[in-house]
Amino acid sequence: MKAIRGAITLNGDTEKEVRENVKFLLGEIVSANKLIAEDIICIMFSNTSDIRSFYPAKAAREAGFFNCALYSSLEPEINGSLPYCIRVMILAEITAKPKHIYLKGASDLRKDITQKLNIAIDGPAGSGKSTVSKLISSYFDILYLDTGAMYRACALACINEGVECTNESEVEKIAKKTDITVKYIDGTQRTFLNGKDVSEEIRTPKVSMSASAVAAHACIRNKMVELQRIIAKQNSCVLDGRDIGTNVLPDAKFKFFLTASPEVRAERRLEENKEKGYIQPFEEVLAEIKTRDVQDSTRKIAPLQKAEDAIEIVTDSLSAKEVASFICNEIQRNT
Ligand code: CDP
Repeated sequence: MKAIRGAITLNGDTEKEVRENVKFLLGEIVSANKLIAEDIICIMFSNTSDIRSFYPAKAAREAGFFNCALYSSLEPEINGSLPYCIRVMILAEITAKPKHIYLKGASDLRKDITQKLNIAIDGPAGSGKSTVSKLISSYFDILYLDTGAMYRACALACINEGVECTNESEVEKIAKKTDITVKYIDGTQRTFLNGKDVSEEIRTPKVSMSASAVAAHACIRNKMVELQRIIAKQNSCVLDGRDIGTNVLPDAKFKFFLTASPEVRAERRLEENKEKGYIQPFEEVLAEIKTRDVQDSTRKIAPLQKAEDAIEIVTDSLSAKEVASFICNEIQRNT
């Protein structure tokens, strides 16, 4: 069972306003969540104390919600609360993630849902960016853009063509004829290189090292950053990378910078690689992490750096869930 929430404001305390707005709000919730009558167990309303002309529950019954339990309650007078506001919670037998609906003046109550949200998560390899970003994207039900995957795809293009990733002029030739795109399939990012889905192929340790080298070149970065900005402009999303807060979206309202000691990060990467079937000695992973740290933070263009206005989170002794929940709370407190 899931709880679906919503709210709407009225223009005034009249029976007609209550009837029409309750019908509108419930209709939007039903259609966004693809509910059928049998899914709905009960609908609970509460309304601000300035609405006394009609019960929202009665309006729901009149609007055709016959088979579920209906409740209405009056909220106490609270200073600063929205005028003429009806809140609703629907308990429904659904398995999908609930889509909460906030309409008219009530959209201000949940800006995290009703406004475009861009969240920048930067940090070095193994700091937990991707796991944390996936949790945040699922919490807010927004896209997750793994920008590293795009640089990895560029690196794979160079590897496939036998081009040395440090050779800028050769890399530039590859960049010109290479098409990198991302698509979302069932809400999950898939990364395409010249039309081929390379989402798994780009995760090898060799591609990791080459991505870091390839990402140092302006010809690659300009192309990838342009694509990232287009996606961020069109969608609410969490972007993880090295330069999101400093360069890709310097105006993003929410910026976080994750860190951890190289040893902890190497340990995490070792486990991740093991799961994917790449067995490497700890010392080798640690050395790769350290090399990438140096390459990423000393390159001339858009180096790995904490944006001045980013919140730094040291994740050594924190689980990904703890980090994600801290970030989600920060966002909710400040929207
Ligand atoms: O997952 P991990 O942190 O190991 O790497 P990634 O995020 O997939 O990124 C691979 C490489 O791409 C990094 O080492 C960076 O050099 C580069 N990158 C970048 O320069 N800028 C970004 N926004 C994202 C990744």
